[in-house]
Amino acid sequence: MNDKLLEIENLNVHFHTPEGVARAVDGVSFHLDAGETIGLVGESGCGKSVTSLSILGLIPSPPGEIESGKIKFDGHNLLDFEAERLRKIRGHEISMIFQEPMTSLNPVLPIGRQVAEPLMVHQGLSKADALKKATRWLDHVKIPAAANRLNDFPHQLSGGMRQRVMIAMAMVCGPKLLIADEPTTALDVTIQAQILSLMNRLKEELTMSLLLITHDLGVVAQMAARVVVMYAGQIVEEAGVGDIFDHPFHPYTQGLLKSMPRIGDGLTEGKRRLIEIPGIVPVLTEIIEGCKFADRCPSMFDVCRQTQPQLVSINEGHRARCWLKEYPNRRKSDV
Ligand SMILES: Nc1ncnc2c1ncn2[C@@H]1O[C@H](COP(=O)(O)OP(=O)(O)OP(=O)(O)O)[C@@H](O)[C@H]1O
Ligand SMILES: [Mg+2]
Repeated sequence: MNDKLLEIENLNVHFHTPEGVARAVDGVSFHLDAGETIGLVGESGCGKSVTSLSILGLIPSPPGEIESGKIKFDGHNLLDFEAERLRKIRGHEISMIFQEPMTSLNPVLPIGRQVAEPLMVHQGLSKADALKKATRWLDHVKIPAAANRLNDFPHQLSGGMRQRVMIAMAMVCGPKLLIADEPTTALDVTIQAQILSLMNRLKEELTMSLLLITHDLGVVAQMAARVVVMYAGQIVEEAGVGDIFDHPFHPYTQGLLKSMPRIGDGLTEGKRRLIEIPGIVPVLTEIIEGCKFADRCPSMFDVCRQTQPQLVSINEGHRARCWLKEYPNRRKSDV
């Protein structure tokens, strides 16, 4: 087996909009080992979902287009695959928990049938066998009295329960790779913790790789071995989870960490004053000569405006896209 289950090489995804070409994913490269969990983080609009939808061949085209790059899964470039071959992989070897579960579940189909469907399509199981296995999976994700709820429709379940159904649907075929796009954002904290530990447990049982997309660095700390930080369509930092939290290099990563509530910060839920990174993500149709984060960066200096930094090695397994690597004395002490 290839140790590198997923290898994304120099991926560029563009959206053709009336305002111009939006470079939603701009030269992204990273890999995911078999059995590994990566946390993909970054503010809204940074290209996290577009990266993951590209893996599954689900970029709406038009207006979207995979401009260039490779997405190798088990050594094969998915971008060379015919639609039919990709459809066979989707939901079977690679599955996804979508960012908006409420719109991903079919409102007029009972949940048992929805979980059973991938087994009938991909593994050729009879309806009865598929429903039996679906029941076991609904048990697995702790839907109480699952066997009695097969005929329930999504609207009869709570948000947390619907999320569990989504997880069961995504895992029922035992995928090698699960992409989970903000799987717990809509849930309250207790349910979130339950769902995350459930995903962790199932991941261990199935030796599955997990690409976990989230705004929440707390979730990343709990789940991931490595972290990829995206900003305006590019990777700006990548490192093991310990390095990201203890030695973040990029001022953007440092800003994200500062905006994360910590246990013991004395602030109760709803009263937390988070330190936000000033400014906003640049418009993706804009051509930026230098660093895309320059406008918001507390350590910005002249070179940052002129030339785009490359993603360079900081330490073993730690890369960052920042001129401070070449000019360390330019770092502001308050960063
Ligand atoms: N259907 C579309 N049409 C035009 N542009 C799009 C479309 N989908 C995505 N984009 C562009 O791609 C960029 C990245 O979007 P993406 O959904 O990947 O962000 P994200 O990092 O997942 O954000 P969020 O955290 O809010 O989910 C958007 O800012 C937008 O410019
Ligand atoms: Mg998204």
